[in-house]
Amino acid sequence: MSRLVRMVMVALPMLVGCAISPQRAVNAAVPPAHALGLTTLEGVFSSAQAGEGERFFRGSCQGCHEIREFSGIRFTIRWSGQTVGELFEVISTTMPQGSPGSLAPDAYAAVVAFLLRLNGYPAGESTLRGDVGSLKTITIVDPE
Ligand code: HEC
Repeated sequence: MSRLVRMVMVALPMLVGCAISPQRAVNAAVPPAHALGLTTLEGVFSSAQAGEGERFFRGSCQGCHEIREFSGIRFTIRWSGQTVGELFEVISTTMPQGSPGSLAPDAYAAVVAFLLRLNGYPAGESTLRGDVGSLKTITIVDPE
C-alpha cells in the first residue's frame, strides 16, 4: 500500500470523527488493542498445519518434552493473555535447546498450530505465518 493511501486511510476516520463529536475522534485515534487483531478462538490455523506441527514436535521436541507439559492449565497459566507471536518467539529463539532456530520459520509456526490444537482451539481456513509481527496480532485467550 502506498504511503499516501495509508495516510488517507488513517486520517479520514479521524476527520469524520471530529465532525461528529470530539469524543468519537479520541476513540478513533486509540482503538482498543484487542480490536486490531484476532484471538485463538477464531480459527487462526488449519487442521493440516497442526498435523504437520505434530510431526515436527515428534521429530524435534519430544526427545526432551512430553506433550502434556504444553497443555491444559499449564499452558493457560503460562500463555493466556499473551500473543501467539510471543509463544512463537520463545520457541523459535530458544528451542530445540542446544540448536535454537534450527527449524524453518514455517516449521515453528506449524508446531505452534499443533500446540493450539492440543489446547482445544478450533482449526479454520487460515494458517499461521512464520512471522513474529503477524503472529503478535493474535491473542491467546482462555480456551472455551
Ligand atoms: C535438548 C532438549 C530439548 C529439546 C530438543 C527441546 N526442548 Fe524445549 N525445553 C528444554 C528445557 C530443558 C526447557 C526448560 C528450560 C528452559 O526454559 O530453558 C525447555 C523449555 C521449553 C518451553 C518453555 C519455555 C517457557 O518460557 O515457558 C517450551 C514452550 C519449549 N521448551 C518448547 C519446545 C519445542 C516446541 C521444541 C521443539 C521444536 C523443544 N522445546 C525442544 C529442552 C528441550
